[in-house]
Amino acid sequence: MKLTIIGTGYVGLVTGTCFAEKGHDVLCVDNDPAKIAMLQAGHIPIYEPGLESLVHSNVAARRLRFTTDTAEGVRHGHVIFIGVPTPPRPDGSVDMRFVERVARDVAGAMTEYRIIVDKSTVPVKTGLKVAESIKRYNKAGVDFDVVSNPEFMREGCAVEDQMKPERIVVGVASQRPVATMREVYAPFNAPIIVTDINSAELIKHASNSFLALKISYANALSALCEASHANIQQVVDGIGMDKRIGRAFLNAGLGYGGSCFPKDISAFVAIAQELGYDFRLLKEVQRINSDQLQRFVKRIQDTLWVLQDKVIAVLGLAFKSNTDDVRCSPAVDLVLALQKEGAHIRAYDPQAMEKARPLLPNVTLCPDPCEAARGADAMIIATEWDEFKNLDFGKIKSVMAHPTLFDGRNLLDPVTMKNLGFTYISVGR
Ligand code: UDX
Repeated sequence: MKLTIIGTGYVGLVTGTCFAEKGHDVLCVDNDPAKIAMLQAGHIPIYEPGLESLVHSNVAARRLRFTTDTAEGVRHGHVIFIGVPTPPRPDGSVDMRFVERVARDVAGAMTEYRIIVDKSTVPVKTGLKVAESIKRYNKAGVDFDVVSNPEFMREGCAVEDQMKPERIVVGVASQRPVATMREVYAPFNAPIIVTDINSAELIKHASNSFLALKISYANALSALCEASHANIQQVVDGIGMDKRIGRAFLNAGLGYGGSCFPKDISAFVAIAQELGYDFRLLKEVQRINSDQLQRFVKRIQDTLWVLQDKVIAVLGLAFKSNTDDVRCSPAVDLVLALQKEGAHIRAYDPQAMEKARPLLPNVTLCPDPCEAARGADAMIIATEWDEFKNLDFGKIKSVMAHPTLFDGRNLLDPVTMKNLGFTYISVGR
């Protein structure tokens, strides 16, 4: 099938590439000429495992192309996916200007029936607005359908999530676009749930909020574990074995971050407010999340006492492992909080140092963990990279000024670290 994706950010690029991999004829559109030139030259603007080789093979197979021309995109795709940013405004509500712009551009270029699918994460009732906007700006009065089809991709495993989705949500206003949407997703062999548009839009915000709620629940429990000398790992393993609860997203740590959870939860709170509902539960989720980082900073201060002029090695700057993304990264916030107290930070991250550099101009970025540890009064694990599990901690200890290790992601075994001679402090255990 001929498909068009508008927006070649995380969502658009991964979605388009995976559609091509499944055999569709995909044209990706972006209004950033530099980005399109980069993609046309075979360079991928983001780090996402597995993406680069898929882009290359599908470009070679002529199933995947890139353009800056929206009109060409509207001519090409029978189904047009919108995957543009929906950034937060200062009050937490969603800035819809990019979605609205695309709706107008598509309307202006549309000469025959099209299905316009919203993939961006948007407030409930956006589909109605997109439909109104297309109707207003399509002078020819061409027929069309608007569909809501939210994505559930995690950064770092976006390709896998898109290739093997657990469910496909298709929100429609009538049955007309359903058969075509089923055809688009037939090669993915995943269950499809067809809903009304408002429900589909709510499913996305409600899913992310629930996952954030699970994380905050685990983090709140970690505070109780610290106060009662219990072990959060054992507690969440114990509750997670109940299938109704599930073990996933119950890892205590420095709190959730990234480009989605913080923004989506704020947006959902603002959307609820607008609809006349005070979503206090989610406000508490947010509060627990920011408290979690503050509690960790306090434990560092309680251990090291004065932070002024202390050298602290920080392993991990990305908001989670397997990504170079540092947006709303708890690791970056942690570094800034320690710097505020006068600490000198030496940091290492396997992928995120380039992106972190402008945010952390006064941090010494090091080529490897051992170099970061050199002369340090303490070391912190701030991102759950697998590579940090298997470091030579004997060697690291030998180059540190003092062997104190704060494990913000509960990555290491407390007994092993203690036997190696570290003062080892982790979260909730
Ligand atoms: C999330 C959703 O998972 C995805 O479905 C949606 O489409 C986009 O938002 P992502 O932002 O890539 O994906 O990250 P995710 O893997 O969900 O992790 C979010 C944050 O929660 C990270 O900072 C991570 O470290 C943290 N986290 C996750 C925990 O602190 N504990 C956990 O148990 C799980």
